[in-house]
Amino acid sequence: MPSILVAGSLNADLVVRAPRFPQPGETIRGEELQVFPGGKGANQAVAAARLGAQVSMLGRVGRDNFGDFLLDNLQSNNVDTQLVQRDDASTGAAIIVVAADGQNSIVVSPGANGKVSAADVERASFSTLDLLLLQLEIPTPVVLRAAQLARQNGVRVILNPAPAQPLPDELVAIADFLIPNETELSLLTGMDVRDLSSAEAAAKRLLARGAQTIIVTLGSSGALLVDKHTCTHVDTFNVDVVDTTAAGDAFIGGFAVEFIRRSKGSLPPANALENAIYTRQIEQAVRYGCACGALACTKFGAQPSLPNRAEVEAFLSRR
Ligand code: RIB
Repeated sequence: MPSILVAGSLNADLVVRAPRFPQPGETIRGEELQVFPGGKGANQAVAAARLGAQVSMLGRVGRDNFGDFLLDNLQSNNVDTQLVQRDDASTGAAIIVVAADGQNSIVVSPGANGKVSAADVERASFSTLDLLLLQLEIPTPVVLRAAQLARQNGVRVILNPAPAQPLPDELVAIADFLIPNETELSLLTGMDVRDLSSAEAAAKRLLARGAQTIIVTLGSSGALLVDKHTCTHVDTFNVDVVDTTAAGDAFIGGFAVEFIRRSKGSLPPANALENAIYTRQIEQAVRYGCACGALACTKFGAQPSLPNRAEVEAFLSRR
């Protein structure tokens, strides 16, 4: 199974379910507060580990109870935490409201995630990895440094540009796969993304900036796979949505593991026939990611909702 390094965030998610989101200046009553392990980096690490990958997490947590909670949870999910340091800053936290329709709104306080440094990633060994998974909840220059080290070692890179922010062209171009959702794609390109054709147009703008392959996650509309040869829409699965938190992270963990399993992490072949086979493998990995994302929507909380391989396979065999 693939060997994956995730360099990214670990957050304690403080979650309240409410009938709807409050208006600015409004106070509304929600249900009881629940605390879940979260953070886009840690979520993607757990997602991949539950699907059987060998996963190592690189990041920082505080010397506080939330830090203990997050490290214990990663270890109980078989994620190696030797590259997670304790920092004087507080552990990162996310304040999450989940509305009755399962949609969420999230405010993140980075805490120790903001202290992850280039020196931290320079201490990691990239030579035995298949894949590096990155998001944007640690400082962007550190994300870029990690991607450069991966590239120097022939390791494939997936960048989930979330939360969205302006990116240097070098980072856009260095990732083998950029995986934004519609909102992130819109913020990254300054273009309105509201349907498949506007998503394709915005993805092509990223191609013009040097991006290699873009997978736009579109919630209940599935995903759009765009590279310089193809633009393919992959449908997702209808489920009863309880909470969409970490659905994107589940997609990325699932896509990452299946991409390496099916393609062995090879680079896109130049030969047209081989390229068509490779593209089909990527599409199948996207479909697997969609199944993981759909399953994650059926349960409450970030990491508690991430499916294991048996659950994904049972789900796919019923569809
Ligand atoms: O992607 C979901 C995650 O975003 C949550 O777990 C929260 O911690 C924020 O980082």
